[in-house]
Amino acid sequence: MQFTINGKVMEADVEDDMPMLWVLRDELGVLGVKYGCGIAQCGACTVHMDGIPMRSCQLRAGDVDGPITTIEGLGTPEAMSVVQAAWAEHQVAQCGYCQSGQIMTATAFVLENNNPTDEDIDDAMSGNLCRCGTYPRIREAVKTAAKNLRVA
Ligand code: FES
Ligand code: FES
Repeated sequence: MQFTINGKVMEADVEDDMPMLWVLRDELGVLGVKYGCGIAQCGACTVHMDGIPMRSCQLRAGDVDGPITTIEGLGTPEAMSVVQAAWAEHQVAQCGYCQSGQIMTATAFVLENNNPTDEDIDDAMSGNLCRCGTYPRIREAVKTAAKNLRVA
């Protein structure tokens, strides 16, 4: 099967029902996407398909019908996306395991709403769990990213 991942066409010899989480990690070596629960409960595996956040543990390879973006496709350490830069500014990550999923969810959110209330942020981010409890810093980083998008 052929996929577009972070702007590159990639091929993998996989079954239709293989979750994209495992296509990305095990077949294509895209390791920014993380396995947390495997049952759509934690958000660690969040990627974008056509800009929409999706849980890649529940997205079958055969159902992919648009370009996939992972954390690797947002920016680089030298040229971070607005959300990645806000995450760095607020030093959000603790162990870091959940953070690529958090950033993918936050990225889609601030592009939809660049002037969110605390409640908006908590609603948007509530499906992404963080065992380290970085939620207050996530909220601040989302606010900073939204503000920087407003002035951009
Ligand atoms: S691994 Fe997909 S939501 Fe937890
Ligand atoms: S930073 Fe450790 S699980 Fe979120």
